[in-house]
Amino acid sequence: MSEKPKFYITTPIYYPSDNLHIGHSYCSTAADTMARFKKQTGYDVFFLTGTDEHGQKIERKAAEAGVTPKAYVDQIVAGIKDLWKLMDVEYDDFIRTTDERHVKAVQKIFRQLYDQGDIYKSEYEGLYCTPCESFWTELQLKDGCCPDCGRPVEKTREESYFFRVSKYQDWLIDYIKTHPDFIQPPSRAAEMLNNFLLPGLQDLCVSRTTLKWGIPVDFDPKHTVYVWIDALTNYINALGYGSDDDSLYRKYWPADIHLVGKEIVRFHTIIWPIMLHALGLPLPRQVFGHGWLVMGGGKMSKSKGNVVDPVKLCNRYSSDAVRYFLMREMPFGADGEFSNEALIRRINSDLANDLGNLVSRSVAMNEKYFGGVIPVPAAYTELDRKLIDMAEGLWEKVEANMNALQFSGALVEIWKLIGECNKYIDLTTPWILAKNEADRPRLGTVLYVLLECTRIVAVLIAPTMPRTPERIFAQIGVTDEAQKTWASVKTFGGLVPGLMVKKGEALFPRIDVARELALLEAEQAAEKEELPAPQDEEKTVFTQKDLCQFEDFEKVQLVVAKVLKCEKVPKADKLLMSTLKVGDTERVVVSGIAKYYTPEEMVGKKVVLLANLAPRKIRGVESHGMLLCAVNADESKLRLLTVDGDMEDGCEIG
Ligand code: MSP
Repeated sequence: MSEKPKFYITTPIYYPSDNLHIGHSYCSTAADTMARFKKQTGYDVFFLTGTDEHGQKIERKAAEAGVTPKAYVDQIVAGIKDLWKLMDVEYDDFIRTTDERHVKAVQKIFRQLYDQGDIYKSEYEGLYCTPCESFWTELQLKDGCCPDCGRPVEKTREESYFFRVSKYQDWLIDYIKTHPDFIQPPSRAAEMLNNFLLPGLQDLCVSRTTLKWGIPVDFDPKHTVYVWIDALTNYINALGYGSDDDSLYRKYWPADIHLVGKEIVRFHTIIWPIMLHALGLPLPRQVFGHGWLVMGGGKMSKSKGNVVDPVKLCNRYSSDAVRYFLMREMPFGADGEFSNEALIRRINSDLANDLGNLVSRSVAMNEKYFGGVIPVPAAYTELDRKLIDMAEGLWEKVEANMNALQFSGALVEIWKLIGECNKYIDLTTPWILAKNEADRPRLGTVLYVLLECTRIVAVLIAPTMPRTPERIFAQIGVTDEAQKTWASVKTFGGLVPGLMVKKGEALFPRIDVARELALLEAEQAAEKEELPAPQDEEKTVFTQKDLCQFEDFEKVQLVVAKVLKCEKVPKADKLLMSTLKVGDTERVVVSGIAKYYTPEEMVGKKVVLLANLAPRKIRGVESHGMLLCAVNADESKLRLLTVDGDMEDGCEIG
C-alpha cells in the first residue's frame, strides 16, 4: 500500500486576548475546513495552531490584573481552546510560545544564527508600536502612526541584536518572482515586492533589553528575543525541529500552507523565509493572506465596540451554521462585512430553505409513498441524467475550489446541485406520479435520484459543516461508512435501495428575521444596562411646545454645511466663528459653543445649518444662520447635529 501524501497546515498563533472575536475564528475555521478536506481526500494531515504569549502588552495587562504573566495567559489560553472545541476546530497540536519545547528551540535557533554571523550586536533607534509589537521606519508610518493599528509609535533606543536580512534581499526577490505560488493571492506578492523588498530591507532588530516577559537570549540574558523570531519559529518548533525527536519535522516540514491575515503576510513572506533560508531549511510551499471580517467598514476591535462574540453565535445558531456563513460569505482573500442580519438571512435561505427543504421533502415523500424504504431506481430519463451528471462531476469542482482555498466557490458549486434538486422536485412532481400506480417505478426513480444527490451533498459539505452530514445520513438511511467517504461521491448510485429513511427534526429551523433582530437588539441593550449607570446624570424632561403647521416648518431651510475654518470670537469666551462651505457658497456663522468644542475640533465637520435665519450681528460679527445642537437642561452637555454618513455640503435636510 502506498503511503498517504502529507499535508501540513497552520494558523497564526493567536495573541492571548480576552477579546477573541468572530474575526479570529475566521482563520481557524478556514484552516480546519481545509484540514478536514485534505483528510477526507486521502492526505496525512497535520494541523497546527497555538498562542503567541510573550511581549510588553501581556506583561502590562498581567500587571494591571495583579497576576503573573503566565497565570494571566493560562486562563485566556484555556478559553481559546474552549472556543476551538465549540467551533469544531480540531487541531493536531496546540503550541504555546511559553512551552519549554518552544523556548529551547528559539534559543538554539538564535544562537545558530549568531554563530554563523547572521545575527550581530549593535544599537537600535527606532519607532515601536507597543500594541502591535512592531518596529517601523519613518517611511512606513501612516500619518505619523502605526500603519497597522493607527496608534502612536514610540521612539526607542537600545543595545540590540540584529538579523542581517539585507544580505538575503536579492535572493528573496528572486525566489518570490520564480515561485508564483509562494504568496497568495498574487496581489499580496506584488505588495511585498513593491512596498518592502524592492525599496530595500533594513536589518531587523531581534532582541530587546527593556522587555522581560519573553525568551532570554541564553548567551546574553539581559536581552530578550524580539517577538517575531520567537513567534514565527513556532511552525517548526512544534514539529520538534532541533530537538532529540524531530521525526514530525522530518515528516511534515515544509508546511503546505501558512494561513495568515493580510496584516501579517509581511512577516511570513519576508522575515520567515529569510530565517529559514539562513538556517538552511526549506521554505513553506505557500503563505495565503486572507482578508478581514469587518463591521461597519472597519476591523473589529474592542475600542470600537464592534466585536462579535463567536461563542454567542454558535450557541444561538449552531457552530455548523456559523462555520458555513464564515466560509460562504466572502471569497477567501477579500474582506467581508459581518452583520447579524446577513448571518440570519444566509441561514434561512441556504440552510433552512435550500438544504433543509431538500432533505425534509425527499425523506417525507419517501416515507409517504414507499413506507420509508429506499426504492430501486428504474431506467433514468434525460432529465435524471442531467442531474446525475451534475452530481457525479461535482466533487471535481469542489476539489478544484478547495485546493485553491476558495471555500466560498466550493460551497457555491454544492448549492448549485441543491438548487437543481429542488427544481427537479418541482419538474417531476412526485405527488402527481403517486396518484397513478403505473407511474410507481418512475416515482421510485425520482426519489432515489433525490436521496442519492442528498447523500453526495452531505459528503461534500463535511469539511465546512462537520456535524450536519451525520444528521443527514441518519435521515436518508446511510449507515455504511463506505457511503460517507469522498471516494464514494465520484460514482452515482452508492445509496443502497432497501434501506430505510427516517424523518428527523429540521436541520436548520427557519428564523423569523425581524423578531430575531429585535431580540438581539434587546439583548445588547440589556447588556448595556448591566453596566453601571453613569453617575450624576439627571433625567431629561421633555416638554412639547405648541403645535406648528407643516407650512410653518417648510419655511425653515436646513442644509448640510462643512466647516472650513473656525476661530474664537475676540473678547467673547463662549463664541466660535465658523466659516462654512455650503455647496458653491461660503458664509460665516457665530455659535455659542466654545465651551464644548475647540476651533481645531470644528474644522472638517459636516454640520446641520439653519440656512435661512435672518442675519444677526453678534459681538460685532455678522452671523448668517445657526448651527443646530442638542443640549441638556442645565447646558452642561452640548453636541452638534451631524449627518449619518458622508453627504455633500449643500444638501437639503427635511
Ligand atoms: N500573534 C500574531 C501572529 C503570529 S504568527 C507567527 C497575531 N495574532 S492575532 O491574534 O492578532 O491575530 C491572529 C490572526 O487573526 C491573524 O491572522 C489576524 O489577521 C486574524 N484576525 C484578527 N482579526 C480578524 C478579523 N476581523 N478578520 C479576519 N481575521 C482576523 O497576529
